[in-house]
Amino acid sequence: MTLLGIDLGTTAVKALLVNERGETLASATVEYPLSTPKPLWSEQDPADWWRGTAEAIRQVLAKAGVSGREVRGVGLSGQMHGLTLLDREGHVLRPAILWNDQRTAAQCEEIVQRAGGPARLRELIANIPSPSYTAPKILWVRENEPEIYARVAHVLLPKDYIRYKLSGEFATEVGDATGMALLDVKQRRWSDEMLRLLDIPREWLPLCEESHVPTAQVSQVAAKETGLAAGTPIVGGSGDQPAAAVGLGSVREGIVNVTLGTSGVVFASVEHYPPIRDTAIEVFCHAVPNTWFFMGVMLSAGGSLRWHRDVVALGNPRLVNPRNDQEPYDVLLAEAETVPIGAEGLTFLPYLTGERTPHRDPLARGAFVGLTLRHTQAHLARAVVEGISFGLRDSIELMRELGLQVKEVRAAGGGAKNATWRQILADIFQADITLVNSTEGGAFGVALLAGVGIGIWRDTREACDAVIRITTRTAPSEHPATHRAYDEAYSRFRDLYPRLKPAFAALSQVA
Ligand code: XUL
Repeated sequence: MTLLGIDLGTTAVKALLVNERGETLASATVEYPLSTPKPLWSEQDPADWWRGTAEAIRQVLAKAGVSGREVRGVGLSGQMHGLTLLDREGHVLRPAILWNDQRTAAQCEEIVQRAGGPARLRELIANIPSPSYTAPKILWVRENEPEIYARVAHVLLPKDYIRYKLSGEFATEVGDATGMALLDVKQRRWSDEMLRLLDIPREWLPLCEESHVPTAQVSQVAAKETGLAAGTPIVGGSGDQPAAAVGLGSVREGIVNVTLGTSGVVFASVEHYPPIRDTAIEVFCHAVPNTWFFMGVMLSAGGSLRWHRDVVALGNPRLVNPRNDQEPYDVLLAEAETVPIGAEGLTFLPYLTGERTPHRDPLARGAFVGLTLRHTQAHLARAVVEGISFGLRDSIELMRELGLQVKEVRAAGGGAKNATWRQILADIFQADITLVNSTEGGAFGVALLAGVGIGIWRDTREACDAVIRITTRTAPSEHPATHRAYDEAYSRFRDLYPRLKPAFAALSQVA
């Protein structure tokens, strides 16, 4: 018995086959292009998504030597928020507008106005939409491309377009639907009030179910294109972040996961719908029924360290001819370890591409503050790693303010591979940092959801308990002096952004 998980990313789609013990049989990845036809725009052709997905499915079946008939369930995950518009015949009307497209600042404002202010908006849909979200994109098309808007019959998120191509069905699930800014997140159903305020027809939206619920079956046509068997059930799945969290077993309150990729994501399951308040933390429906999650997103986490490797550490002889991709980072972390906590007063702000959480500020900039002649390459490396970790702690602190008790932080992504960084995170977060045996991300999470949907496991927690194990645990240092030194450095870090904000805004005038 085999389960297929598909993760439709921003650069590539990944297809993953796992068995009922959660063991990976094979994976296949197919890339596709992204276009930026104007500054701030980010688009993809849904036809490329489908071609890539069908190809990845054929490849993964061939690699594993598995026939389509052996695949008993399919789960879908992918880049969240993107807008795919179809006409009545199911034809795509324009390129999809992606989560990282920044064209809709005015429409985000308009949504706050139409809803009667931020507080009411939080009551309706939990979050204040940023340009990532889908609803402002719909408004943008209405205002700028009326001839296209007039032909819209269906609005789909990226992974749900793949469901449509696999099955002919229009369906989504509560996690990804939260990111449209049209879902009543507390009640886990479309918000009729929000649709009315924005004047968006209810009929355009797909069926919305919980993540493990089968909502479609592979069609005859898609079976021919992919090699899957017609009739194979497809469960709801979830957006890439909640799907990855399921893949790490982050499905109980108290377990937080931190993903250190180019961006850094802090994610926490919560079992009660949180009180609505003014916070930079986003609140979404999780893939476990009646649970939600908090999310904070740092835009340049690993991205800051990569910049450091490529620009600041240039000329470091130990970075020449690395044996693998990980080695340069291991070298930088080893150097960072040679200088004291707090890098002797040097602080780095990691806002190289602006910031999303805690400072929703596209104009924020990176900075080294406190440089003296004493500071060496090693101090710079230490400041960068600490600055990234402090920025992530900002999200954790906001979640603690919302009442979250952090019991354990599961680390994932490239940065989690380094033991020194894990220790720094444990000391800065004051929580155990763990690694688990699964590293396949969102595709693995939705393969587990598919297993729940077809009855291999009773529910998603049982699935995670059955297949996910902690392999490494790093506890915070027992030395109070370590804790104190990080707290002092963190408070220096926190002080800087409000002081520099006006300077950042002024710098944005410089072309
Ligand atoms: C989530 C988010 C990203 C995208 C792309 O809110 O913006 O995770 O899903 O990966």
